Amino acid sequence: PRAPLVDTFGRAVTYLRVSVTDRCDFRCVYCMAEHMTFLPKPELLTLEELDRLCSAFVARGVKKLRLTGGEPLVRRDVMTLFRSLGRHLETGALEELTLTTNGSQLARFARELAECGVKRINVSLDTLDPDRFRALTRWGDLSKVLAGIDAAQQAGLHVKLNAVALAGENEDEIPGLIEWAHGRGMDLSLIEVMPLGETGAERIDQYLPLSTVRARLAERWTLEDIPFRTGGPARYVSIKETGGRLGFITPLTHNFCEGCNRVRVTCTGTLYMCLGQDDDADLRAPLRASESDETLHAALDEAIFRKPKGHDFVIDRPGQAPAVRRHMSLTGG
Ligand code: GTP
Ligand code: 5AD
Ligand code: SF4
Repeated sequence: PRAPLVDTFGRAVTYLRVSVTDRCDFRCVYCMAEHMTFLPKPELLTLEELDRLCSAFVARGVKKLRLTGGEPLVRRDVMTLFRSLGRHLETGALEELTLTTNGSQLARFARELAECGVKRINVSLDTLDPDRFRALTRWGDLSKVLAGIDAAQQAGLHVKLNAVALAGENEDEIPGLIEWAHGRGMDLSLIEVMPLGETGAERIDQYLPLSTVRARLAERWTLEDIPFRTGGPARYVSIKETGGRLGFITPLTHNFCEGCNRVRVTCTGTLYMCLGQDDDADLRAPLRASESDETLHAALDEAIFRKPKGHDFVIDRPGQAPAVRRHMSLTGG
């Protein structure tokens, strides 16, 4: 067996997030600008190349594989990739194969995902108000997402919801989102908005610290810290009154980089060792250089050696340039 990927801070990389496309059928106001330039299609890795790349990571000890985007389900034939990656679940090399999706295409794909060995999925849902949803996503149809969530649950998938906490946008709705999710047997995670890419909005206007949200929720409900973990950055509480779990993803108010176990790859084969840093490594050239994976594994070692201690995110004044120039949609969070 090949050596596991361990960085200079002793953190093992066991979680790979793969953005299979930078495209999306929505334009969430905190994620993208209204008019985005997407990568030219010839730049993309083929599904076979993505499979080979993921498999190389699995050979190095990656246990959790999450496909993201953009919106992963808008990539043509993405199910072929899921199906093929499912083989690593069967051998036991991989523990979890999953995705993060905006839900718009889920009604079509839920059943097939379950057949590929996917067990739990994360669906982004920031509001339950159709008009607000349309404004936040710039044109999205909430009813499609809700139908997608239903289809996923029908197919036996465990659904976790993600909501970015947005000042003045959905903050009044947070308790309602929690009750709705818990009432349907779903966990929900709240996320602090992160400064990636120019979106045309001031991050400081959008930013809502989750320490504030938590304090408000604690006035209404009984929150109890619980050790439940999923391998991601969320720290969970249980809520006595709703009987469900609530996650907090707090890159700004409570840094979790010390326990980082993950890296991300884009659809062009660029590796980002941290979500909140611009440093990267090209894996496409080594992937294409040879049919043997030796060059690729050498490139992985070199890149992981450079994995930084933590992110550069700060949101503390108006007019501040984003800490990271690329948009979230390129690396999928
Ligand atoms: P679980 O398997 O449910 O734990 O998923 P996850 O939280 O790892 O993944 P998901 O795609 O649902 O991401 C939720 C949010 O967490 C997104 O906004 C991501 O950008 C953010 N996130 C995930 N990993 C990191 C990280 O390493 N650093 C930072 N700053 N944010 C992260
Ligand atoms: N900050 C925080 N979360 C973001 N997401 C997209 N852009 C940002 C941002 N700038 C969220 C999406 C999705 C997850 C993968 O990341 O809503 O739930
Ligand atoms: Fe698309 Fe997700 Fe970005 Fe929204 S957050 S624009 S759904 S990639």
